[in-house]
Amino acid sequence: MSVPTHKARHVAIIMDGNGRWAKKRHLPRAMGHKKGVDAVRRLVKAAREMGLEALTLYAFSTENWSRPEDEISALMGLMKAFILADLDEFAKAGVRLKIIGDYNKFSADVVELIEGALARTAANTGTTLVVALNYGSQDEIARAATKAAAKGAITPEAIAAELDTADLPPLDLLIRTSGEVRLSNFLLWQAAYAEMYFTEVLWPDFTPAHLEEALAEFAARERRYGGR
Ligand code: FPP
Repeated sequence: MSVPTHKARHVAIIMDGNGRWAKKRHLPRAMGHKKGVDAVRRLVKAAREMGLEALTLYAFSTENWSRPEDEISALMGLMKAFILADLDEFAKAGVRLKIIGDYNKFSADVVELIEGALARTAANTGTTLVVALNYGSQDEIARAATKAAAKGAITPEAIAAELDTADLPPLDLLIRTSGEVRLSNFLLWQAAYAEMYFTEVLWPDFTPAHLEEALAEFAARERRYGGR
């Protein structure tokens, strides 16, 4: 069955290339991440204006713990600053925050800020901003399968219902910036029928116009879900 052209409901982004952006300018990597957060800010606003139901951002993977301590602490500082400085505006605009992954591994002050932000936006009905924190897709699938098994049946539907993303619309489009062409343990299950979009643009340079380009390409693709 062929599916007519469509508007994306759920877009996910692997925000890659902050380090290379900084290196090209002889700046510390943390500056690349800082500019990366500026891009996050622009893109959340754009997603809201474009009426996306969900925007999922890969902010910190289970593998990112192996980065140098100062880089991890720079990322944590940026996340705290984002919640403190920007969340209010997004919350007022109807954005709901959702976290996938186990953020309880972060320090107590970060956990507290995240929980405050979750509570503050829980009743919002606009775009859901999904931030993947200490997230790994294989871990998520294993946890979901364990829960499904405890309830009796390990079927695809039963596993899907236990994933961290169970309450979100199906993933339509997965974007990765910076020219890398792999999924890096991100949304492996959810990507089963998602369209993939890879761009050379480094994350700090990614603008709403780039998102619109990706969405235009998405709308023009024919999705057959394995049918004909
Ligand atoms: C990849 O670039 C990017 C990350 C590992 C971190 C992404 C996180 C942010 C942009 C901050 C998120 C904050 C909020 C508020 C959601 P890289 O360092 O791997 O770049 P490289 O491959 O060029 O070295």
